[in-house]
Amino acid sequence: MKCQLQCIECRATYDPDEIIYLCPSCGGLLEVVYDLPSIDIDFHTSGECRSVWKYRSLLPVERDPVTICEGGTPLYRIGRLAKDMGAREMFVKHEGLNPTGSFKDRGMTVGVTRALELGMKTVACASTGNTSASLSIYAAKAEIPAVVLLPGGKVALGKVAQALIHGAKVLDIRGNFDQALQLVREVCDEYGFYLLNSINPFRLEGQKTIAFEIADELGWEVPDRVILPVGNAGNISAIYKGFKELRECGITDTVPKMTGIQAEGSRPVVDAIDRGLDRIEPEPNPETIATAIRIGDPVNAAKALRAIRESGGLAISVTDDEIIQAQRDLASLEGIGVEPASATSVAGMRKLLADGVIDSDERIVCITTGHLLKDPTEVVDICAKPIEVDANIEAVRKAVFG
Ligand code: F0G
Repeated sequence: MKCQLQCIECRATYDPDEIIYLCPSCGGLLEVVYDLPSIDIDFHTSGECRSVWKYRSLLPVERDPVTICEGGTPLYRIGRLAKDMGAREMFVKHEGLNPTGSFKDRGMTVGVTRALELGMKTVACASTGNTSASLSIYAAKAEIPAVVLLPGGKVALGKVAQALIHGAKVLDIRGNFDQALQLVREVCDEYGFYLLNSINPFRLEGQKTIAFEIADELGWEVPDRVILPVGNAGNISAIYKGFKELRECGITDTVPKMTGIQAEGSRPVVDAIDRGLDRIEPEPNPETIATAIRIGDPVNAAKALRAIRESGGLAISVTDDEIIQAQRDLASLEGIGVEPASATSVAGMRKLLADGVIDSDERIVCITTGHLLKDPTEVVDICAKPIEVDANIEAVRKAVFG
């Protein structure tokens, strides 16, 4: 195996085949580390679809991947919305165009492949929705059972439907996401299920390919800033790691300022950054319309705080109204349909520009993490209702022309 597991706190290293999610000696988060100079980096593919697996030389698995062609999402150059916000150069990386409609597929293709490599028999996660949808499909493809724990009544319908139809055992917990995560960790310890939340460092390796793709699409250049939503804080940590590895390999020169956006009612990472704390204080009752990031005790907070601080980035929160406005802007000005959590990146960018916190000259990439169709309920509520008309041309004409 070309990698090891390393604790981000005490730096102890472990065999990658050990089934551990936290450092056995100090309890710190683990990450996958490589002897980068010894790796023959080959980012060229022949005949494959543009995907996460283009970057397999920096991924921690050897066997044939469990794949449904994840990654290879578009990086849109944004015109009207950028102008409206006063930005010089803006891109949106639309992760909602992954096979199940969210960036989680990048993590799960690697995570479930790793589960097979380790001989694990069952995979499991807690989820605000997207992780469970993604785990369910990759488990189906890998022909192993999946168990998912959801915060009952707080998961968007599209995501629940995905988890169900692809065959996971779906449990609605009478509690919030943080409680569901605690429970699934206990279940995995007790029954030997493979935990595929973002505390699993192998899963995050798949997600770091967002960084590789952004740099690749910009001609191996790095944007000044990457802005993205923060929930359990895995993705911001993974993307930062990806940019750092590119720099360490001499492929790029710098890393972008990692900028995390949380919802106003659920902002433990923002508070820790504001107050200069080393660890977050969990929010016991997180609330936001963006249910995907309704998380009060993000498990990867220690990694995310480092990513933000080391890169010279920022963390701010946005209100539900700002989220909805950004969702509308993306849809109507740019033709990009996203779920509420995804729109936080753009809502945050607008706020940071308006407040003069970031420079309008920066080259900025916003990541939109999940597709509109995941969570259409609130959209139907806030948009004008369809006009009901009789089934004749006169009625249609009247409705269209008034
Ligand atoms: N955006 C969407 C659409 C998400 O589903 C999530 C997380 C995030 C952003 C935040 O990413 O957790 O890496 O900071 N969803 C998880 C889930 C928690 O269970 O689907 P993060």
